[in-house]
Amino acid sequence: MVGNLSKYLKAMLLKQTLVLVLCLTASLAAVDYAPKDYSNLIGMKGFSDDLLKMHFQLYEGYVKNTNLLLNALQDFQSKNPLDSYEYGSLKRRLGWEFDGMRLHELYFENLGGIGGMPSPQSSLNDALLKQFGSFEKWKSDFSTTALTRGIGWVILYQERSTGRLVNAWINEHDVGHLVTLRPILVLDVWEHAYLTQYGLNRTAYVQAFMDNINWNIVEKRIQAK
Ligand SMILES: [Fe+2]
Repeated sequence: MVGNLSKYLKAMLLKQTLVLVLCLTASLAAVDYAPKDYSNLIGMKGFSDDLLKMHFQLYEGYVKNTNLLLNALQDFQSKNPLDSYEYGSLKRRLGWEFDGMRLHELYFENLGGIGGMPSPQSSLNDALLKQFGSFEKWKSDFSTTALTRGIGWVILYQERSTGRLVNAWINEHDVGHLVTLRPILVLDVWEHAYLTQYGLNRTAYVQAFMDNINWNIVEKRIQAK
């Protein structure tokens, strides 16, 4: 009788332990990111279908590699000493792949509009006027920043604490971000974003970008001060 009870309690304990391990494993398991669908941009004036489809494919590569990298890091943590050169190398790549994924999402999402300028009644318009004096002065600074030699991104940031707006150059994907500032408008100026259609004429590509900004989306990203 006592032996049977002991076996029963051991079986229950083992079962509960297994359930606990499964729950912990599930909670620690990485949730893979899914690439977003931006096919609504196909047909956008100034952006050929081939250019956009190629760009979507590149973006999907960043999503795939972000997932691979995060899973590799998690796998590495459970099997290897962490003070290795290999672990450090994986860590160094995370900002590049993750930022590559997120920047492309912000870029595609702020396209598909009719360009022009923000609504005169919007918080964004107020902030642009306060910071730059006029929309045209902001546009000139943003466009000039986009001609910075090299590959990268231009981001219009908003500082949360002060409302200050800054046009910043981001080198590749991960160098130059202004920490704690919110990305409001994102422009991809890697060569793959325009070279096959515009050649070296980056100025024409930047104008095409301006002509397709979805200001409704951009205005939603700003926080009223
Ligand atoms: Fe890109």
